[in-house]
Amino acid sequence: MGLKCVIFDLDGVLVDTSVFHGKAWADLVRGEGYEPPEDLEDRVKGISRMESLKIALGENASHYSEEELTALADRKNACYLEAVKTVKASDLYPGARALLDGLRAAGIKVALGSASKNARAVLDGLGITGDFDVISDGTTHARGKPHPDVFLGAAWMAGVTPAECIVVEDAPAGITAALHGGFIAVGLGPEDFLDQAHVVVDSLEKLGVDTLQALHAGYRIPTLEGPSALPAIELVPTQDYDLTGNGLPAAWESLPWTLLQQTGGESGPVPSTRMKMRYSESALYVLIEGEAQTIQGPIGAGDPAFLTEDHISLLVMPDPWQRIYLDYKLSPLGHDVTLCVANHMGESAAYQRWSSQEELCVQKRIRVHGGSATSGATVSGWTMEIKIPFTMLAPIAVMPPKAGTVWYGNVYRVDTEQGNRACLSWSAGPGEGRCHDYAKFGKLQFGS
Ligand code: BG6
Ligand code: MG
Repeated sequence: MGLKCVIFDLDGVLVDTSVFHGKAWADLVRGEGYEPPEDLEDRVKGISRMESLKIALGENASHYSEEELTALADRKNACYLEAVKTVKASDLYPGARALLDGLRAAGIKVALGSASKNARAVLDGLGITGDFDVISDGTTHARGKPHPDVFLGAAWMAGVTPAECIVVEDAPAGITAALHGGFIAVGLGPEDFLDQAHVVVDSLEKLGVDTLQALHAGYRIPTLEGPSALPAIELVPTQDYDLTGNGLPAAWESLPWTLLQQTGGESGPVPSTRMKMRYSESALYVLIEGEAQTIQGPIGAGDPAFLTEDHISLLVMPDPWQRIYLDYKLSPLGHDVTLCVANHMGESAAYQRWSSQEELCVQKRIRVHGGSATSGATVSGWTMEIKIPFTMLAPIAVMPPKAGTVWYGNVYRVDTEQGNRACLSWSAGPGEGRCHDYAKFGKLQFGS
């Protein structure tokens, strides 16, 4: 899924009309005998005409009837239209022409996503109306930003999904709108003003087609660390079979092990943990082996939605654009929890039990080696075999995955020996809490 469309906001992104909006509002308010708010120009960026009027008038808006407010907005608009009559091709922001040309040459669609009802007049003044495949603006969508409507409308008209687009915006309300719509948001302007954007640049000259494509490909990594930096497992196809708990049948043997690394907890030696994965037409199969001295059972009452005991967590995110993934937790004692996690850039995450019919649940078989499968028993290790039916994941992505599909995920282990807790992880930054950092999830590459 490559970059198929770039959606540009207009005012403040392609041309400096924000200053005309700001001045027209300030003049109107002063004409009414009030002092406009100091930061008026910034505050109305991206905001619809009527909402902007309320911001411009502040509390004084209550002195007017709806008809009077509409008349005021019309007056402001007349002044604004007079001002934008002067807009000409040379007012196009530096870098805009080259970027529009580059996108066209690369076969990437160009869309407008502006809250303004005057967008076409401004595009005409700039002489760039013909550069746009799609124009979504205040005349096609009533709700302004931060509602995502104009961007969703632009994507819809361009025949692409939000996941295939990048939005370029200069206003915080526009960045919020883009995020609500599920778009990658590039901020144009000061970094502290646009801190919600995935990336902020100070000029369109910094945005070449290559840069935008790389940003799109690396979206799961807001820092723009390339996806090639992620670890990967090549999944080979297999026939379906019943789990044995010890990595049989022999088909597992030819596959290489992937080691988990220590990522948090005690600094002493941690038990070696390794895994393999493969897939059939109907399920993902995972084999995990861990060394262990003892098995720590549940600690305290705890939250039944999570495991307090030694366990592994298998995180599987089939569609990174959704930021929704499976978190299957399993202890060597056989306790398991199946959760659905909705995670927004680590800032907020919701955990829900994964409800599904019995035949669609995760299947597991466990063998404990060198001791009994009881809490506190001395053992030498364990083997877990896990089978995740694809039908289970159908609510969050297209199933089954085909050869060439890439999913993202992580496997981590929480292990306590003599009171020392350690965390091992396949793919994550340092620190136990980073195991859910989906930007760093490894790649599950479905092979043929
Ligand atoms: C946005 C501007 O593009 O359009 C806002 O950033 C403006 O400042 C809004 O209020 C609506 O514009 P118009 O031209 O329909 O009044
Ligand atoms: Mg703008």
